Amino acid sequence: MADCEKPSSCLIVIFGASGDLTRRKLIPSLYQLFVAGQLPEHFAVLGVSRSPMSDDDFRDRLHSFFGQYDDKQWHDFAKCLYYHVADSTKAEAYGGLKTRMAELSQSHGTGVNVLLYLSIAPHLYEPTLTQIGAAGMVAEGKHWCSLDRNNPPWQRVIIEKPFGSDPLSASRLNDVVASVFDEQSIYRIDHYLGKETVQNLLVFRFANTIFEPIWNRKYIDHVQVTAAESVGIEGRGSYYDSPSGGAMRDMIQSHLLQVMAVVAMEPPITMCADDIRVEKTKILAACRTPSMDDVPKIAVRGQYGPGQFGGKVVTGYREEEGTRSDSQTDTYTALQVFIDTWRWGGVPFYLRSGKSMTKKLTEVVVTFKPTPHCLFLPRMTGSHSALPNQLVINVQPDEGIRLRFEGKVPGMGMDIKPVIMDFDYNEQFGASPPQAYATLLLDAIRGDQTLYKHREEIKHCWRVVQPVLDYWQDHPQDDLPNYAAGTWGPSASDIMMARDGRKWHNP
Ligand SMILES: NC(=O)c1ccc[n+]([C@@H]2O[C@H](COP(=O)([O-])OP(=O)(O)OC[C@H]3O[C@@H](n4cnc5c(N)ncnc54)[C@H](OP(=O)(O)O)[C@@H]3O)[C@@H](O)[C@H]2O)c1
Repeated sequence: MADCEKPSSCLIVIFGASGDLTRRKLIPSLYQLFVAGQLPEHFAVLGVSRSPMSDDDFRDRLHSFFGQYDDKQWHDFAKCLYYHVADSTKAEAYGGLKTRMAELSQSHGTGVNVLLYLSIAPHLYEPTLTQIGAAGMVAEGKHWCSLDRNNPPWQRVIIEKPFGSDPLSASRLNDVVASVFDEQSIYRIDHYLGKETVQNLLVFRFANTIFEPIWNRKYIDHVQVTAAESVGIEGRGSYYDSPSGGAMRDMIQSHLLQVMAVVAMEPPITMCADDIRVEKTKILAACRTPSMDDVPKIAVRGQYGPGQFGGKVVTGYREEEGTRSDSQTDTYTALQVFIDTWRWGGVPFYLRSGKSMTKKLTEVVVTFKPTPHCLFLPRMTGSHSALPNQLVINVQPDEGIRLRFEGKVPGMGMDIKPVIMDFDYNEQFGASPPQAYATLLLDAIRGDQTLYKHREEIKHCWRVVQPVLDYWQDHPQDDLPNYAAGTWGPSASDIMMARDGRKWHNP
């Protein structure tokens, strides 16, 4: 959501700097911002983790991993990259870390502004935050003591997902982080919200007049939000098969409910972060809590077995390294959600996410109600009866928006066929969307929390999914695995839709 003004100088400290996220996403995104001239005039990045490395080792490691850097630009960028060996959970690490930060702040002229990025395993968030607080590293993030009201100094923290593994642990983590930082300084990341098409949803809905009057229960039959991955768990078996893993926790609780909130929210009074987050929070607060009796009707748990993808044999989930042979983990989840508001009363939102599915895709599909009276019956029109209008918002890949409506096939008869009005992001703007992490990092540097989650949002997302997780825990399924890798998921999910007289959009 960033504007064009250069942000104020700052030091970026990444905890977990020797890890996968840092080298695959964070550093390439910072580099992209650097090349685009969007980073502050004075900045430095300090990576922190326990593996012994020099600054140069760290730079070489990052450079050789990504391999798509321009030599000259990388050379200039790398001068601002540093590494510090420390265990972020240990009090004794912070004396040296603070000294290093002070030196860099001095040599790079970054001032007191600091962005701390927790790119470490979730169980390390709490001990690390506690030590950050105890070390007195946060003055500005907790107490706004600046005299310069227009440009106050800041210290902010970005916390990676997952944020807790159930309502209790999320609430405890919220309390710990709140004991160190003010809510305005806490950036709970959801990289889905950083995706261009999700942001474009805000523009689509609120910069156009024609959709708003029909964006409600009167005209919309139901909404589907799908995040399908064609790959399996890719060696993350021990994490994915742990009590924190599974599609419900990993995808529905975090990303898909957020995307749904953007689709369903009321128009905010301004585009400021606070106003947008208030509206998103209201939607999540209005989501119905499933009862135990509801669960079998509104939720489907799936797990992939062996199958095929692209002509190759794919291993089943239980045969992947690090998983249990009797695992009950959901690699696929479908969930029906109701938002109990005047706008959405009675309109189901179907969220689904799965691994090892037919194709990789994230999309929002809005299906409108049929015409009140059907003039074009199948017998008049050949084999096809009029289909309701459908709006497909492709979040990734092939970012774009497609509207389906009925058209007359040229000829003497009255044959009708669905046609598509297509907005292709790439074709229209001639540019690929930026990396979601680049958008989110720049927003955090600028102090824009629009695309980050408020603690209340986290609370409600857990409230909605936890009853299903509890039910699943108490009711093991003996039909798992129940879908073959490379398919659209278990038949139970199609049955859930068919019960409501609906079908998944499987493009
Ligand atoms: N990778 C992704 O694509 C991705 C996507 C979404 C969310 N995330 C989230 O991002 C976070 C990082 O993920 P990741 O994939 O980068 O994990 P990772 O590859 O395991 O990296 C974590 C890093 O933390 C460091 N570390 C461990 N204990 C530490 C300590 N006590 N003090 C300082 N550093 C410590 C480790 O390095 P040392 O052993 O050298 O200390 C390791 O390099 C996780 O919360 C994950 O859920 C990752």
